[in-house]
Amino acid sequence: MKTEVKEWMLVFLIFIFFAGSANAQTAMINVQARKTTSLNGKWTVIIDPIGVGEGKQVWQEKKPQKKTDFVEYSFEGGPELQVPGDFNSQLCELTYFEGTVWYKKQFNYSVKADKRLFLHFGAVYYLADVYLNGEKLGSHEGGFTPFQFEITGKVKDGSNTIVVKVDNKRLGNGLPGTGYDWFNYGGITRDVDLIETNETFVEDYFIQLKKGSLNTVSGWVKLNGNKLKQDIVVKIPEQNLEYRTKTDKEGWAKLEFNSAFKLWSPENPKLYKVMVESETDTLADDIGFRSVEVLGNKVLLNNKEIFLKAVNIHEENPSKAARAYTAEDAGKLLNAAKELGCNLVRLVHYPHSENMVKQAERMGIMVWDELPVYQHIQFSDSLVPQKLETMLNEMIRRDKNHCGVAIWCLSNETYPGTPNRNEALIELTQKCRALDSTRLIVHVINTHGYNNNTFKVWDPLYNYSELIAINEYVGWYKPWQGKPSETKWNVAFPDKPVFISEFGGEALFGSTGGPIDEAAYWTEAYQEKIYKDQTEMFGIVPNLCGVCPWLLFDYRSLSRMNQVYQNGYNRKGLISENGEKKKAWYIMNEYYKRK
Ligand code: GCU
Repeated sequence: MKTEVKEWMLVFLIFIFFAGSANAQTAMINVQARKTTSLNGKWTVIIDPIGVGEGKQVWQEKKPQKKTDFVEYSFEGGPELQVPGDFNSQLCELTYFEGTVWYKKQFNYSVKADKRLFLHFGAVYYLADVYLNGEKLGSHEGGFTPFQFEITGKVKDGSNTIVVKVDNKRLGNGLPGTGYDWFNYGGITRDVDLIETNETFVEDYFIQLKKGSLNTVSGWVKLNGNKLKQDIVVKIPEQNLEYRTKTDKEGWAKLEFNSAFKLWSPENPKLYKVMVESETDTLADDIGFRSVEVLGNKVLLNNKEIFLKAVNIHEENPSKAARAYTAEDAGKLLNAAKELGCNLVRLVHYPHSENMVKQAERMGIMVWDELPVYQHIQFSDSLVPQKLETMLNEMIRRDKNHCGVAIWCLSNETYPGTPNRNEALIELTQKCRALDSTRLIVHVINTHGYNNNTFKVWDPLYNYSELIAINEYVGWYKPWQGKPSETKWNVAFPDKPVFISEFGGEALFGSTGGPIDEAAYWTEAYQEKIYKDQTEMFGIVPNLCGVCPWLLFDYRSLSRMNQVYQNGYNRKGLISENGEKKKAWYIMNEYYKRK
């Protein structure tokens, strides 16, 4: 059987494997195009700081049966929380809360014999145990990717109750681990939907240009249900294109067709209406077509060299000091990136909401999607490789048809000395490439040396990264050791593109007191100088294909405890949390205008 046929079978088998266990199912894609009932809104909660709810089995919602009975828990009388939304920013008693909150939602449903029903979560931070009418459906670990449960045959005709145990405690073998430089927002942080489907439905598809091609689409469609052998039509009306094929007995159909597309690019973010039709289901999607690849030391978009004008963004609405999730939140962050002059956003350090990815794609901003494999990861823990693969699958499954997504980033600042780090991340890279070879795959590293004004860049992972992505904070964590324009670069991978994935320094907007050449006063002038020096140095960095300031907005991080200048904020933003542009913003904006 031809190799590429074996490849797509492997891809599909990987996807099936994740559908089985008491663990949550991997979510079907393109939820917004399906028949959904939103369960967003007010949910009643029990805050469980000492974690006793499990022992009390609060999901049973026991009621006194006889006069001497009493039940020492109830949702009744409890506070309500908005879903979606993090719980920390909603109730002051939850401001710094890291633990368990039990959520309850009641909904009505009329059972239909020929329909299936799924309970879908856009994301729950961090651990979720989900119950329906007192029965456990299963669990999910990972706070930034979707998951679902099929509840056909379990849902009752009439009133039903969902209980979700949400726990944002930090896990040593978690992704991320226990230490990270952002706020640990917990809760049901993205949309919750009931999805009603026909017995057999279009579960998943991959419709993108073949690697290295500007007009050949290569992909697949996957059905889920009993009637797996069906006729499939993929329609792109604007291209007068109707591609017909058939699924095999496993519900699988391979796609390959040509068309002269207007290619998606930042200048022309063209999306096409695409219909995926089977005999029992039809899904509409907006899909763009573009090719992105590395050729020698250059990054090519649609076969033309592109300089990546990027910025780092955390998924936080700066003015609300809360986890971002709405299209408006996305608009606020992306409009600021656009205004800075960006053509790429690095969404750190975890997959942001699909709203963000879709909005960026519509605005002509490329997206860097990243897994929360951040600094101290216990790679030698027996459970970690599975968690890595589950999160990788969930991220790629959700975003693979979004052509705006150009880069999969699989790790940030992990340490070569950590046991099993190289092995685990090399294996993860291979799995990523098997799932999707049409995008760049990178690892971000900060293990370079900087001595005598010379950068020495080497890490084994760079052999598996299509970009030499470097985080360097010279001018802040490390003082300059010479003129920026005279820095020397000793990069062990001379023919790979170099991307400065993080640089910068802190400033408190409006802080002008104290000598401008001293870091300790968080002055805008000091930060501005860092940007002047860095952009000067960029002129001599070999094979530089792009840069990405750390970061767009000041954001919350409890490890930042200088109470004069930080107050729980990482102040490396180019813009304050109140939307005020710092002096450094203008340096960066000018630099991007020149690029
Ligand atoms: C690191 C890290 C960021 C962090 C930044 C900083 O490079 O990747 O997550 O916030 O440095 O120290 O501000």
